[in-house]
Amino acid sequence: MGVYKLLVKGAKQIVTIRNDSGVRVLRGKEMGHVDVIEAKDGDGACILVNSDGRIEFIGLDSERISRYPTSDEEVNHVIEADGKCIIPGLVDAHTHPVWVGDRVHEFAMKLAGASYMEVHEAGGGIHFTVERTRKASQDELYVSFSKRLYDMLSTGTTCVECKSGYGLDTENEIKMLKVIETAKREHPLTISSTFCGAHAIPKGSTAEKATDDVINKQLPAIINLMKDGKIHVDNIDVFCEKGVFDLEQSQAILKAGKEAGLNINFHGDELHPLGGAEMGSELGALAISHLEEISDKGIAAMASSGSVGVVLPTTAYILRLKPPPVRKMIQAGMAVALGSDFNPNAFCMAMPTVMHLACVILRMTMSEALIAATLNSASALGLSKGYGSLSPGKYADMLIIDAQRWEHLIYQFGNHDKIIEYVIKEGDIVHTKYECCG
Ligand code: NIG
Ligand code: FE
Repeated sequence: MGVYKLLVKGAKQIVTIRNDSGVRVLRGKEMGHVDVIEAKDGDGACILVNSDGRIEFIGLDSERISRYPTSDEEVNHVIEADGKCIIPGLVDAHTHPVWVGDRVHEFAMKLAGASYMEVHEAGGGIHFTVERTRKASQDELYVSFSKRLYDMLSTGTTCVECKSGYGLDTENEIKMLKVIETAKREHPLTISSTFCGAHAIPKGSTAEKATDDVINKQLPAIINLMKDGKIHVDNIDVFCEKGVFDLEQSQAILKAGKEAGLNINFHGDELHPLGGAEMGSELGALAISHLEEISDKGIAAMASSGSVGVVLPTTAYILRLKPPPVRKMIQAGMAVALGSDFNPNAFCMAMPTVMHLACVILRMTMSEALIAATLNSASALGLSKGYGSLSPGKYADMLIIDAQRWEHLIYQFGNHDKIIEYVIKEGDIVHTKYECCG
């Protein structure tokens, strides 16, 4: 066992995002550029990882040799990056990955012109998945969830937010949160878990009754399990939307979650401009997702509260929604993050694809998209102290890209399987394109 876990040397570029580990989020114009360590005159860029999985040194090979004259026996694993690029592991700030029952038939309905809410109101959508997920056992859910997590890892995601929300009652929401908890212990990915009991109004119930059930039954039961150390939930979510939970009901649910110690991170202003951004900013939300219909006032409120705006280009793409006004958000000084929104409606978990769509549909630059999928998405989950950028002291979550410039990961649309050569989690190789280590 060596002193160091891993040495990656000879890289052409290392995208650190910011060289300073004190930078926890980038707002507005700060998202316009990424810091890059470039190889110079045959002197490659390198990263040395200590036995805790944290970065010990990052810089040029020549400097590493003079400051850390380690012999090969002192390093457990050496990777010759051979003119390739290193970027931070990707952080997916919004997913719904615990369910059974796909909705491929609904994709056909939507292609034929049905809207998301029409399908939902006809008893499909979230309701369809709830029916099947309620019937599934914890083990059954874990099998499909765990496979999805490995698929995410192979596309470069090393930290992910995972929501419950297909149970909609105490027993089934807890079942989902326990599935996520098992993965937290057993899977290499870092997981931020979110209670989303207010994802829809259960069939036969009303918004009032469902709000009461979430606040007075589901949440207290979850908090009790947390006190007993059985589960660790990080965030509270609600689908704040016309015809689902209105502004007042959403506010009551989020407040109750906050009082119980959870971070506020919810779905707002997706299909109608309800004022979710303003309400969430006032409550001190860590993050608000979707925001396709955010108002100018909402943008100003989020810019001043510092709540991170998590935009989800796959949803706007699949549902043919008006895209969120990301240029306005960045102009106003907001911090913008990206998520895949992986769910049975939007079956895409590949953050490289999400970044590509963010550039084309949301008109983000490649630097903005990469920051949104690393440091800012880590910040949306309260994880940016340890993750989301590469600098001494931070965890060595990183990808080795088989290209001479990092932008290829975004530019080569749909080619991430070929271009991501290694996925490294806290200094351990957890996936290579040659062989899946899962
Ligand atoms: O973020 N908008 C609400 N929730 C999900 C969709 C979940 C589903 O359709 O199953 C979303 O897009
Ligand atoms: Fe969602």
